[in-house]
Amino acid sequence: MKITVIGCGYVGLVTGACLAEAGHEVVCTDKDEARIELLNRGGIPIYELHLDEVVQKNRRENRLTFTTDAGEAVRAGEAVFICVGTPPLENGDADLSAIDSVARLIATEARTPKLVVEKSTVPVQTGRQLRQALAVYGRKSGLAFRVASNPEFLREGTAVEDFLHPDRIVVGVDDEATEKELREIYQPIVEGRFNCPVHDSECPPQGPPEFLVTNINSAELIKHASNSFLALKISYANAVADLCELLGANVQEVTRAMGLDPRIGPKFLGAGLGFGGFCLPKDVQAFIRLAEHAGMDFALLKEVELINKQRIDRFVEKMRTALWVIKGKKVGVLGLAFKANTDDTRFSPSIDLGRRLLAEGAHVAAYDPAAMERARQLLPGISYAGDPYAVAEGVDALVIATDWPEFAALDWEQIHDVMARPLVLDGRNLLDPSAMKQQGFEYHSFGRPE
Ligand code: UDX
Repeated sequence: MKITVIGCGYVGLVTGACLAEAGHEVVCTDKDEARIELLNRGGIPIYELHLDEVVQKNRRENRLTFTTDAGEAVRAGEAVFICVGTPPLENGDADLSAIDSVARLIATEARTPKLVVEKSTVPVQTGRQLRQALAVYGRKSGLAFRVASNPEFLREGTAVEDFLHPDRIVVGVDDEATEKELREIYQPIVEGRFNCPVHDSECPPQGPPEFLVTNINSAELIKHASNSFLALKISYANAVADLCELLGANVQEVTRAMGLDPRIGPKFLGAGLGFGGFCLPKDVQAFIRLAEHAGMDFALLKEVELINKQRIDRFVEKMRTALWVIKGKKVGVLGLAFKANTDDTRFSPSIDLGRRLLAEGAHVAAYDPAAMERARQLLPGISYAGDPYAVAEGVDALVIATDWPEFAALDWEQIHDVMARPLVLDGRNLLDPSAMKQQGFEYHSFGRPE
């Protein structure tokens, strides 16, 4: 099928590239000219595993093109996927202005009827507004637009894998023709008819994904309900970690045992500095707000947010206890991205921590394998080092703020030698406390006996 993707951010690029890999003819558009120019030169504006290979292969095979001409792009597709940003406004509501202007664009530029698919994360009932906007702005052409919701469940760092090997594909529709069209679009993914760029060993065979058909409101709600539940699991694990600290238990032993119960599951029970990134914090906030608009106080999620906000405070207090005085101390920070395998620093707990340490009067040096460039813009007051060993040089404390696996594989003996004081504060429970102690470190983490 011919598909248009509007918005070439994380979601749009992965969606466009993977739908092309599934055999469709995809044109992607974005108003950021520099971004489109880079893509047309064979560059990739984001750090995302396997995305480069999929994009270049499908560009070569002429199934994937990029343009700044949004009108031309809209006219090219039978289905138009909206993948624009819905960032939080100051009051926590999602900013839907980009969706609104895309609706106007589609309505005025289309010359044939289109299926308009919301991929961006939007509050429930946006579909209704979108349908109305398309009808109002498209009234002169009299074209009939159909609307569907198709939430994405892509994790940064594994987004290509998540798109091509999903657990479930959710489509919210209100007529059979739309369901049929979306089934056709996703059929190659359901049947595994694409070249998987992920190596076999990392990509365990699994059955076909569930193709779930719901109404549009449910589909929109599923995204916020899922992400808020993931956030809830993390905050729960963090609260349990705090209790473990008080009572001499080990949170990793506790959550491992909990996770073996299939009703709970082992994932998203990792205690530490808390959740960040562009999705979980904003989706929890937006879910609280949309409940409020509907007349419900979602107090449970407010607590989830509060626990998460307090992680940085708790960590700084741990540092104060260990260092006595933070002001004037040299602190090294390993990790700036909001999690491993991404260069994304948006709402990163590491960046918040960096700001807090600066406010406390510490001298901060940092390193991240992928996120240095983005971090420099958000956190200008610190120094940046070329590798972890340079960060550790002469510091009074070394912090692990992102769970990059390569930090666990460092030569810790060498690090020990170059630190002014061998104090490691592990904000991601990445290292083994007894091994660290054996190597002569003073080591603190979350919820594990010291
Ligand atoms: C999330 C959802 O997982 C994904 O389905 C959705 O489409 C987009 O939002 P992402 O933002 O890429 O994906 O990050 P995710 O892997 O969910 O991690 C979010 C944050 O939680 C990170 O800061 C991570 O470090 C933290 N986290 C995760 C924990 O603190 N503990 C855990 O056990 C897991």
